[in-house]
Amino acid sequence: MKQVYTLEDLESRELLDTGADKPARLAVIGHPIAHSASPRMHQAALDAAGIDARYIRLDIEPGRVGEAFSRMRALGFIGCNVTVPHKLEAMAHCEVHPDAEALGAVNTIRFEADATRGFNTDGPGFARAVEDDFERPLESLRVVVAGAGGGAGQAIATQCCLLGVAKLVVVNRTLEKLGPRVGRLRLLSPQTQIIALAFDDPALAEQCLSCDLIVNTSSVGLKEGDPSILPTACLKKEHLVYDTIYQPPVTPLLATANGLGCRTANGLSMLIQQGALAFQHWFPGAEPLAVMKAAMALRK
Ligand code: ATR
Repeated sequence: MKQVYTLEDLESRELLDTGADKPARLAVIGHPIAHSASPRMHQAALDAAGIDARYIRLDIEPGRVGEAFSRMRALGFIGCNVTVPHKLEAMAHCEVHPDAEALGAVNTIRFEADATRGFNTDGPGFARAVEDDFERPLESLRVVVAGAGGGAGQAIATQCCLLGVAKLVVVNRTLEKLGPRVGRLRLLSPQTQIIALAFDDPALAEQCLSCDLIVNTSSVGLKEGDPSILPTACLKKEHLVYDTIYQPPVTPLLATANGLGCRTANGLSMLIQQGALAFQHWFPGAEPLAVMKAAMALRK
């Protein structure tokens, strides 16, 4: 059994399942993929449900996602998760659910007899994480998305608009990136007040202080020595503060927020919630959340 499989291993069941006690029928595809935590929670949920299947890591090079899907289908896979950098490429090789279309990415694939269906559970997974961590429905909150230029920022800003939040402040280092996105968000949710700002905008602190939930969707905080994505002046103790980063578990933003007495949470809950929703696309009616939380050592 390998830690990471490749397209070549998808040639035959023999290559894939030698030395394994169960057939590989689910996977996460990405590049690189060696450090993905997805197998841990999905395998725990499969085992708990008594499903005879293995969940594997598949390293697929960019440009070969369609081929990977065809081979998985041919081998009788149930589905797969799709992660960086394949969430856009995957859209060209499946029938995309309208919500995933709006969210601009696909992270879950289900192979059916006559179709390959693509879903996005990142946006809904974030909404569930917020509700679970802060006991407040996302739709009731005014939200700041800091670092809205990347994939995670797009999914979370879009989810806020799909739910019709009253106010959404999107902040990005490169303001120009937000123009076309804000146009699409306005079409999705005409009732949402949408404000786009650069980090050096003099109105930033005032806009943040008029919101309830602050979310970091940038990569700032991943590396040691990174600053907080927002200055302390943008935070108040009433804020709920969510960082999509979970390694390190306390980013500079969360440390600052904790110091002010804010309620905070990191991206582990979003990872687990999106995983549980993906599992339910493959196994409707399953309730994998508690097992997945335990597997990821998050007890709540
Ligand atoms: P993706 O999530 O699609 O892989 P990314 O390149 O990792 O995208 O960037 C995610 C977000 O982090 C972007 O909003 C990016 O800002 P830009 O759009 O201006 O590039 C943000 N980001 C990365 N490094 C940053 C930094 N040092 N300061 C502020 N924002 C930063």
